[in-house]
Amino acid sequence: MKVWVINGPNLNLLGTREPEIYGGDTLQKINEQAMAYGEKNGLTVECFQSNHEGEIVDFIQQAGEVADFIILNPAAYSHYSIAVRDAVAAVAVPVIEVHLSNIAARDEFRHHSVVAPVAKGQISGFGSYGYLMALDAAKHFLWGGLK
Ligand code: DQA
Repeated sequence: MKVWVINGPNLNLLGTREPEIYGGDTLQKINEQAMAYGEKNGLTVECFQSNHEGEIVDFIQQAGEVADFIILNPAAYSHYSIAVRDAVAAVAVPVIEVHLSNIAARDEFRHHSVVAPVAKGQISGFGSYGYLMALDAAKHFLWGGLK
């Protein structure tokens, strides 16, 4: 089973970007942890990041062709990108939206995600552990269990 992890703008700066909000892990470390956790759990995890909206849309469309689950942190695009939202709605593959920070507890403009209504669900506020939680959820739904 294949899971694509797609990260949006500025997440390439994790580790040095506002660590008091996003934690100290680099994106490379988060990706390595996700790939290792996937391997232990029968999931092939592939990781992508872009600072560009169209590239995020391309990744989602490509994942829609080859992946069984998508884990997406759309970063700032969560709050206003109809293009990213439409890409998520367009693919048949389920998408789990992940945020490192608790977006509901931050600036008002971060409270709303335009992606959330078309995602399978959202994990927010658990730092880099959120990606592993999302992999657990993907595993759960891929292998069937309580729905
Ligand atoms: C974020 C939250 C967004 O509001 C912000 O723009 C990000 C990161 C998070 O992971 O907490 O870039 O998606």
